[in-house]
Amino acid sequence: MKNINLGLFGFGSVGHGLYTALDQSTGFKAQIKRICVKNKDKSRDIDMQMFTFEKDDILFDPEIDVVVELIDDAEAAFEIVKTAMENKKHVVTSNKKMVAMHLQELLDLQRKYQVGILYEASACGSIPIIRTLEEYFDNEELVQVSGIFNGTTNYILTKTIKDGLTYAEALKEAQLKGFAESDPTNDVEGFDAKYKAVIIALHAFGIVVPPTEVLNFGISTLNEMDILYAREKGFNIKLSPIIKKTSEKKLALYVLPRFVNSENHLYKVENEFNGVIVEGKFSGEQFFQGRGAGSLPTGSAVLSDISALSYNYQYEYKKNTQHQTHAYTNDADIDIYLRFDDDEILKELNFKEIRARFYSPNHNYVLGTINLLDLRSKQQLLLEQRLFCAVLG
Ligand SMILES: NC(=O)c1ccc[n+]([C@@H]2O[C@H](COP(=O)([O-])OP(=O)(O)OC[C@H]3O[C@@H](n4cnc5c(N)ncnc54)[C@H](OP(=O)(O)O)[C@@H]3O)[C@@H](O)[C@H]2O)c1
Repeated sequence: MKNINLGLFGFGSVGHGLYTALDQSTGFKAQIKRICVKNKDKSRDIDMQMFTFEKDDILFDPEIDVVVELIDDAEAAFEIVKTAMENKKHVVTSNKKMVAMHLQELLDLQRKYQVGILYEASACGSIPIIRTLEEYFDNEELVQVSGIFNGTTNYILTKTIKDGLTYAEALKEAQLKGFAESDPTNDVEGFDAKYKAVIIALHAFGIVVPPTEVLNFGISTLNEMDILYAREKGFNIKLSPIIKKTSEKKLALYVLPRFVNSENHLYKVENEFNGVIVEGKFSGEQFFQGRGAGSLPTGSAVLSDISALSYNYQYEYKKNTQHQTHAYTNDADIDIYLRFDDDEILKELNFKEIRARFYSPNHNYVLGTINLLDLRSKQQLLLEQRLFCAVLG
């Protein structure tokens, strides 16, 4: 593909980042022909002639080769992407929610219309994890992929442990610095990290996991006692998705806070940075760190995908099509710390084993083993009672 003409959807943080990265790129060149945005009253800092508010101006323009979807509305994004692919246009997107919620449909669309969709920016921003899994680990059996996939929560957690801020203070600071949205639910409750983990699971293990099946328990119930516990034990707290084989053919995935000690690679991943640990059967542990969000880092990942399309690169999903894939399970035992108020909850949660109990006037906790199925079924109860749990180790 030569002289690529791009049709861009969205001119927010990532859209701007792509525009700048393209403008300043000394190597690869492509032209943005049109930009579709939503708000007619917003002032724009580039020529208004570039903009349209009508999606069909891009989707049905025969001169546009690649649709770059960078909007913040997952359902509208899917409609855009679907129509683009039906019109034989390749797609690049940064929209993790859209990709994770529609993975199977996107696989089917690619096969049916023989066009590619690349989405490196959707999982851990500038860390090239998807292409690494696709190209480098395409044949090696992986055992586990884990990490820090959300910069907002990592920023908040770093501030609580390192600077002694409370959760509320750290969240406010993250919002003031533009790392957290005014409604932080998507980040702090672990949805964002879950979408990324679902995408990574497809490329690492060949399996399409419906996001609704996956437990995401976030950091919104973290309190001073949990922070004190972590600090006293020398742990850092990370919101960490874990995707792991539980047996030869079974794969579990969950997003939970995690206490990590100084020997873990994730311990030193601070502030808005992301980290990914890939554990292969033969290669052992590999660690990747980088900026998981931000205008230019994300724009650069989008640019890299556009450049890859220029030499006809497409994901092959070898682990999905050629390898024996895994079945998804929530039947996995995990070791957790649970802060609680009333012993009743321990019975409800059906702990398999409790190894330590601590009671004091303002802090009760247990350390024990629980099945993910039990934890998932009582998630709402934990949230209602403002309890906090974290994976150990
Ligand atoms: N920000 C990051 O660091 C980052 C990192 C990785 C992935 N992502 C993902 O990238 C996507 C974009 O994020 P962002 O931070 O750039 O969002 P943003 O700053 O809020 O910008 C969103 C853009 O989408 C446009 N838009 C919304 N609905 C539209 C529609 N139906 N048709 C056309 N345009 C529409 C908005 O138009 P107006 O300008 O008219 O309002 C705006 O330009 C999201 O899916 C996000 O999850 C973001």
